[in-house]
Amino acid sequence: MLMAGTSSSSMTIEWAFCEMMRNPKIMKKAQSEVRAVVKGKTITEADIQRMHYMNLVVKETMRLHCVPILLPRVNPKDCVVNGYDIPAKTTVLINAWACATDPDSWESPESFIPERFENSLISHSGTHFEFLPFGAGRRMCPGLNFGLATVEYAIANLLHHYDWKLPEFRMV
Ligand code: HEM
Repeated sequence: MLMAGTSSSSMTIEWAFCEMMRNPKIMKKAQSEVRAVVKGKTITEADIQRMHYMNLVVKETMRLHCVPILLPRVNPKDCVVNGYDIPAKTTVLINAWACATDPDSWESPESFIPERFENSLISHSGTHFEFLPFGAGRRMCPGLNFGLATVEYAIANLLHHYDWKLPEFRMV
């Protein structure tokens, strides 16, 4: 539980800031929303529900930087997938990152565009196979709600209290 719950959450937070620093307009939009909702108070869980754009940023971060990338499964029976025979008891690695960046499912899949989730029914629940940040089925992440709450709460606080930008490097 500790192993599965710590690096997954911290990596998601780091990637969210990495992407927002690379896209300052997105950072500004998320930060303005957080500051408008919080108005200098301490952030509560109810506030997080009102941070609509920040939640889109979290989803888009999880799409582009899902942890873990490969989801292992063992098939109990012989089966055929896309013309390939998969004998029973084979360990199959499902590439969740490839699904989340498949150009057949996503427009400009390698770009960071939180707005793509606006008015979209695609959720983390494991029922949309193009977006599996918490896996799917009976072995999907049992820490989904806890993980999401931790990530959203940390990002909201870091956006509320600090301004972020990339360091300026000079080419020599
Ligand atoms: C943003 C945070 C998190 C992400 C992105 C994440 C993602 C995942 C993924 C993709 C899996 C594999 C699911 C599958 O094979 O279908 C998994 C499994 C697991 N996660 Fe998480 N997780 C997060 C947070 C947490 C937290 C906070 C906990 C516990 C406190 C946790 C506990 C577990 C455990 C115990 C498993 C193994 C479940 C099993 O094999 O039956 N995770 N997680």
